[in-house]
Amino acid sequence: MDDQSTTVRDSFSGRFAVVAAIAGSAIGLGNIWRFPYVAGENGGGAFLLVYLICTVAIGIPVMTSEFIIGRAAQRNPYGAFKTLAPGTPWFLIGLIGIAAAFMILAFYTTVAGWTLEYFFQSITGNLAGKNNAELTDMFNSFQKGSFRPLLWFLIFMGFTGAIIISGVREGIEKYTKVMMPFLFILLLLLCVRSLTLPGAKAGLQFLFHPDISKLTPRMILEALGQSFFSLSIGMGTLITYGSYIKKNENLISSAGMVAIADTAVTVIAGIAIFPAVFALGGSPASDTGLVFIVLPEIFQKMPLGNIFATLFFILLAIAAFTSTISILEVIVAYLVEELKMSRRKATIAATLSVSVLGVITALSFGALSNIRVADKNIFSILEYLTSNIMLPIGGFFIVLFIGWFFSPVLVKKELTNDGSLKGRYLPLFRFFVKFIAPVAIAMVFLYSLGIIK
Ligand code: PHE
Repeated sequence: MDDQSTTVRDSFSGRFAVVAAIAGSAIGLGNIWRFPYVAGENGGGAFLLVYLICTVAIGIPVMTSEFIIGRAAQRNPYGAFKTLAPGTPWFLIGLIGIAAAFMILAFYTTVAGWTLEYFFQSITGNLAGKNNAELTDMFNSFQKGSFRPLLWFLIFMGFTGAIIISGVREGIEKYTKVMMPFLFILLLLLCVRSLTLPGAKAGLQFLFHPDISKLTPRMILEALGQSFFSLSIGMGTLITYGSYIKKNENLISSAGMVAIADTAVTVIAGIAIFPAVFALGGSPASDTGLVFIVLPEIFQKMPLGNIFATLFFILLAIAAFTSTISILEVIVAYLVEELKMSRRKATIAATLSVSVLGVITALSFGALSNIRVADKNIFSILEYLTSNIMLPIGGFFIVLFIGWFFSPVLVKKELTNDGSLKGRYLPLFRFFVKFIAPVAIAMVFLYSLGIIK
């Protein structure tokens, strides 16, 4: 017999642990590295507005649906659809999710490696005294190099694999509970410094005043993609984590809390970064290097800046770590449950195969930068395909599944914990998963393909 059916499945130990682990997955480079640069390239305020709408109207319903699927099925994304909808092609959604996990992990861990480089540079005092131009040069030449991006990538990947081998409770929980409050406090300090720089107001204006002329189909798709990426939804990470949630946890309120925490970190990161970008004369559209150039600049304008910078980059690495763990867990849960591998073997196999793609990705700004499709390097192709296409498609089918295919009785059972909760939000949830979320995702796609205007 396989041990999955004979042993009690691993689960998170309690309310705080659930929200902390899921928030640990959600909060990461998506909030602090990706949001600022994508918002910066897409006009700021209007992007933030669409992003917020997507988070509420689509993100929370998709997240709750993933929890329902995971907890009802007690399986990885592929196995969950096989269990809940046997003999149908729904399992394909799980497979697309697992493919997305591979791709995201490759480029995400690359960036996580950059945070280790910046930790190293700040602890050795190399960021001190550099101006915007020098920091820009420094980032570009690091990114174009081969050895260091590769080395940091491999170190990060190795750590992620090591934690996953040790299992859910001891592995994931322990590391997610403690560090995040510190990161939050440091971000708040950065906000204070950034907002008190002369000329900071232009940055707030940029972030909070939506310029409606910036509402283009491409920007709306990017905002949708960013909200999926940031919430870790659309590929089954939260189906997998949902399968570890105990039967007495309230799924809707957990989803709401995670979404609030994630959005708060994003907005605070924006307030830390944009005022400084404008005050220090940089450009908000600085591509993947934005935070690696601006943040060291802000730190230099703070007392004890180098110490804060060091702390910040290590905490950012840890925030990234709680996300890479959640992504690798998707692949490993699949290999363990479907291909009956041992956890150890599965983790090693997954880590090695992601590393192959990751090595190529880490080199895609330097040695492999001439490999391009539609003027994007490998890194950007992976980033674009996953966040803007694969995750929204996954999310679309996940809400369709819960809204139209899955038994309403079972949905109710999951959302009321078998009748012990009132389920006040049930009608609202039904309306959103049946109509609002799928229609909104479909419209964003049709609009960005130019099929509707
Ligand atoms: N949400 C994570 C972040 O913002 C990234 C992530 C994406 C994690 C998809 C899991 C799945 O950093």
